[in-house]
Amino acid sequence: MPLVSFNQLAPLPAVRVAPADKPAALQALRAYIGDCTRCPLAYAGRHNIVFKDGDPNAQLMFVGEGPGADEDASGVPFVGKAGQLLNNMIQAMGLQREQVYIANIVMCRPPKNRVPEPVEANTCSQFLLQQIDIVQPKVIVALGATAAAYLLGVRQSLASLRGRWHDVRGAKCAVTYHPAFLLRDPRQKGEAWKDLQRVMVELGLKPPARG
Ligand code: URA
Repeated sequence: MPLVSFNQLAPLPAVRVAPADKPAALQALRAYIGDCTRCPLAYAGRHNIVFKDGDPNAQLMFVGEGPGADEDASGVPFVGKAGQLLNNMIQAMGLQREQVYIANIVMCRPPKNRVPEPVEANTCSQFLLQQIDIVQPKVIVALGATAAAYLLGVRQSLASLRGRWHDVRGAKCAVTYHPAFLLRDPRQKGEAWKDLQRVMVELGLKPPARG
């Protein structure tokens, strides 16, 4: 199945959602998704559809791969160990988790946390695409290879995708390591911090004062 970037999937909306209307637009999208049975993950033991977390008017959006066990149980993305590291990364950027928007390529947990199958990711993509078009973040951070592959429509090494800006639905997109990978290989945290610092410059963010 060929990879199609989010930019190729649909034209940008002619009319953008006004800031005050974004919460309702997201609620309407969630209602439309309903108790989704559009892909095989609906029948693979999921407990909750993990739609999103954070500010509908966020300037910064993080996109991960898919819910794990903690997220499946709570219905909230990035609340397990990887989520705690993501929270630390967000705080190091001088932000609170509530100020950013967090979503995933797929909203239902793949069994045993396997990588989502193309049919699952492609089915769910339309809803992440709509979230991006509603929120209109300035910057999207793709966390890991799966998020990068589906957002950008390319299957390339993270090394070749990091360190430069990509365009995703009018937002600047940076690619960095997935927090779960950083938990397994903490030596790469410095590299991820370099990626986040470029995002901070773009958004005019300053790290919090220490002490
Ligand atoms: N990993 C992800 O990619 N997303 C989550 O929500 C949790 C862990």
